[in-house]
Amino acid sequence: MRVTDSFLNEIRARNDIAALVSMYTELERTGSGYVCKCPFHQEEYPSFHIFSDTGTFRCFSCGASGDVISFMSFAEHCGTAEAVTELAERVELELTSDEDEAQNAAYRRMLDINRDAARYYRDVLLSPTGKPGMEYLLGRELTLGTIRKYGLGFAPAGWHNLHHYLKKMGYSEKEMEEAALIVRHGTSVYDKFRSRVMFPIINKNGDVIGFGGRTLEKTAPAKYINTDETLVFHKRENLFSLNYAKSVQNKRFILCEGYMDVITMNQAGFEGAVATLGTAITPQQAKLIKQHCEQVVISYDSDEAGQKAAAKAIKLFKDTGLDVRVLLIPGAKDPDEYIGKYGAVSFEKLLDSLPTADEYEFSKLVNAANGDKTGITAEIIGFLARLNSSEREKYILQLRDMSNVTQSADESDLDDAPDTTITDKPVSELTDEDILKRLKSMRRKKVPTGT
Ligand code: UTP
Ligand code: MN
Repeated sequence: MRVTDSFLNEIRARNDIAALVSMYTELERTGSGYVCKCPFHQEEYPSFHIFSDTGTFRCFSCGASGDVISFMSFAEHCGTAEAVTELAERVELELTSDEDEAQNAAYRRMLDINRDAARYYRDVLLSPTGKPGMEYLLGRELTLGTIRKYGLGFAPAGWHNLHHYLKKMGYSEKEMEEAALIVRHGTSVYDKFRSRVMFPIINKNGDVIGFGGRTLEKTAPAKYINTDETLVFHKRENLFSLNYAKSVQNKRFILCEGYMDVITMNQAGFEGAVATLGTAITPQQAKLIKQHCEQVVISYDSDEAGQKAAAKAIKLFKDTGLDVRVLLIPGAKDPDEYIGKYGAVSFEKLLDSLPTADEYEFSKLVNAANGDKTGITAEIIGFLARLNSSEREKYILQLRDMSNVTQSADESDLDDAPDTTITDKPVSELTDEDILKRLKSMRRKKVPTGT
């Protein structure tokens, strides 16, 4: 049997090491993983450690160590092939055939070139040439650990640095061009990314599939440029930092606009942070989010563009069944700036009392209706009409409370409604039909039809 690297990675990604070990012995939680008594030798005190984030284990007493695959082969006294088959079955993965592999050769080659490019950029960042990039990143308060965790790098100035490096590694110009790492201009080629801090974009399996590159200039036409679509890079179908977010314990994703937001949040302990890749959120990304969490917090920039994008995201999440929350960041333009200014603890507090998407939309509509005499605009009616009856009742009660405290003119307007029998009933007794009738009568007041 021959299996591909990406298949092995898939097996490692899908089989939770802790869950596997727990079938053999009892686990105890520690900071970033678990400890237990070593299943491979007799011991009185636990010295077997499980590292959930890397999917590995090590016994500090007998020295056994490895990943899910080696654990399985130790534990079951079998060879790697058998362990792989067993683990694939556990997570219902089909074994890849040689044929698939041949088809995947080009794909894997492109992952290789991307990985090598990422290593190159990373090494430059750590070298004297990378000083401007390193100063920039440290200036944005990233730690060395975070820079390493995200594999950040620096693309030096000059037109042929990566080009020559990859050539030496045995890649053809065609391969570099297809991976969108170099750009062709007539008969010559040049590096796509120059004088930029590099953010590798890593898929769920941990493969580098593309890059975002940020200029260091304060004002440049393109602050970020991203890899164009390639065989392996589909920006509409991936999320930045999903490789980390996918295993977040609290099942809460925080959807941000930018790479830096995600990285800052992650550094501050919010592992569920993800971002789209330089485009507005797509249906595929909404689906992807749904597959990995239970609650999503939309945490876009507080400017108008950010709020518009938030509205679009809310729409996309509407039918996913996700618990959708909206975070309007107070006193900062984005999560990155907020955490820089007020710290992670404040951010955590914000997360604890978030409005649902409906509550957010409702309060936006109510604010917008401030100048309206009745306080009930066509938009509010439209919003209410989309809700189920118990939800609608909740918001109608709120509207009532609000109109009670404003001028009594509102009340008398309501009393003038053609069907007064409806308004006499307590809200809890109103049927759907009553409510819609009543809302329609309000709408007549607000928007007179005809002349
Ligand atoms: P922002 O302009 O909000 O970036 O764009 P940011 O995260 O605040 O950037 P910093 O903090 O100044 O570094 C949000 C995202 O939009 C995409 C990038 O993915 C970026 O992270 N973008 C932005 C581009 O693709 N191109 C651009 O020119 C600007
Ligand atoms: Mn920012």
